Amino acid sequence: MNSDDDLRIAELADALIQSRRHIGPRHLVEPAPDEGQLRELFTAAAAAPDHERLRPWRFLVLGPSARERLAECFAHALRERDADAALDQVAQAREKAFRAPVLILAIADLRAEQPDVPPFERLVSLGCAIQNLLLAAQARGFASGLSSGRALQSAVLRQTFGVHEGEQALCFISLGTATRVKQARGRPAVDEFVAWI
Ligand SMILES: Cc1cc2nc3c(=O)[nH]c(=O)nc-3n(C[C@H](O)[C@H](O)[C@H](O)COP(=O)(O)O)c2cc1C
Repeated sequence: MNSDDDLRIAELADALIQSRRHIGPRHLVEPAPDEGQLRELFTAAAAAPDHERLRPWRFLVLGPSARERLAECFAHALRERDADAALDQVAQAREKAFRAPVLILAIADLRAEQPDVPPFERLVSLGCAIQNLLLAAQARGFASGLSSGRALQSAVLRQTFGVHEGEQALCFISLGTATRVKQARGRPAVDEFVAWI
């Protein structure tokens, strides 16, 4: 490859990275990645740095019946937190399960006995896998958002989706097409977080 091509690839990669913005699930609609495209996105995820090749993460793609079960989890987790939650609050919690055409649950696997790869390294590996997936989606013209929330830690969600002891449901990944344009946001200046020592 000549240096012009190298420069172009660097510019493309930088543009891709800088153009990704978090889009909330309620602002994501069809078209969304189909199964073939999702497989490409997960192939990108699989290229994440992974010390000792533990592959300390997995993903669940939540189809229609899983969304129904997720809605129940959200409602249940809310009632557990707030026994006095009003009906419309419970309905609102349920509704969150049906936002965005593609919804994926990202799960970290912190179980393997491997002292050289402590749990926080494994979480970093999952973070890298997620970022690869987001950028691969962005490169294909899709928008994305991450969401978390206390329901992720709830016993009902863990049981419903078979999250094992030692695993951690980290966040949801929503994918689709953005209904709103978000401007580039200011990023931290390099000198704020880098020291040249
Ligand atoms: C693990 C994780 C969980 C997140 N959960 C939420 C969330 O629940 N709600 C939300 O609005 N954003 C969530 N975000 C996204 C951030 O809010 C978003 O990345 C941040 O505002 C920066 O915006 P940008 O991604 O467009 O640069 C999450 C991000 C990560 C890494």
